[in-house]
Amino acid sequence: MLTVVHEPVVVQVPAKVNLHLGVGDPRPDGYHELATVFQALSLHDTVSVVPAHGLEVRVRGEGSRFVPTDNRNLAWRAAEALAAHVGREPKARITVDKGIPVAGGMAGGSADAAGTLVALDAMWGLDLPRDDLRRIAAGLGSDVPFILLGGTALGTGRGEDLTTVLTRNSCHWVLAFAKGGLSTPDVFAELDRLRAKGLSDGPGDDAQGRRQPGLRRLGSADDLLQALAAGDASRLGPVLGNDLQAAALSLRPDLRRTLAAGERAGALRGIVSGSGPTCAFLCADEDAALAVSLELAGEGVCRTVRVASGPVPGARVLGDDHDD
Ligand code: C5P
Repeated sequence: MLTVVHEPVVVQVPAKVNLHLGVGDPRPDGYHELATVFQALSLHDTVSVVPAHGLEVRVRGEGSRFVPTDNRNLAWRAAEALAAHVGREPKARITVDKGIPVAGGMAGGSADAAGTLVALDAMWGLDLPRDDLRRIAAGLGSDVPFILLGGTALGTGRGEDLTTVLTRNSCHWVLAFAKGGLSTPDVFAELDRLRAKGLSDGPGDDAQGRRQPGLRRLGSADDLLQALAAGDASRLGPVLGNDLQAAALSLRPDLRRTLAAGERAGALRGIVSGSGPTCAFLCADEDAALAVSLELAGEGVCRTVRVASGPVPGARVLGDDHDD
């Protein structure tokens, strides 16, 4: 009998960091109105697909033992949603190689969903319009449309209404992965709780533990957008901001030490990435990022340290262009 060996379709998908994450009040649907600026980073998951008799998900690499491989997995749901959209059976074996921390506030699960959409679109020869993929992505999670798009983008609504932002120069980041993860709904709920109390918890709201006068909300992203257009990292540091940071620090007070250590090591600014607990440190250039990463790794304030840069492209099939 002849055995047909299929070459996998391989898609590289980036992580994200929020340079600005302004969180509004909860909406009737339970989501919060956001005004956010996402940036896609050179920290990737890889999603490979081959034809199969049914639907199967395998996960390997960074934190994979914490990832379900059934219909709770966003890659699984992405395959079902895409198949339903075109009226076919979701038959594929999906292999996810994780480089993005699990439950780390860097959209790792969303990356796997976006990667699966792009990979199966290619494997099934669908060639769907980007707008169809974007709509399916939005149904899977608030961050999934951005991971499809990549680059740097302003997100509104739940975070799924996107406008590309023009940037000059790359940003250089050091990422401190924490032990354990944080649940995104828990962090949003903690922010609601802190806001309802009119105060923050804990000894202070910022990296140095200084108490802030209540939970101030981030203003507009205009200063940040101007700093991105100017391409000046030193202007960018002071205008990074994340409304979820106070809530993440309230649930994980140990992150204050990580933030303080990164800034002491020479980062321009440290922020909690999204809902955390990963901390992201903006550095002046690539050399500075390397120096900060080495020093931070020696401090013992986090599980793993990585260097990354952004913006990078969204989910894309490897081998589709000439630089792979
Ligand atoms: O959209 P996604 O499923 O990724 O969101 C995960 C959770 O994060 C939601 O269930 C909700 O609790 C919270 N969330 C929110 N407002 C947003 C995005 C996410 O409250 N704009």
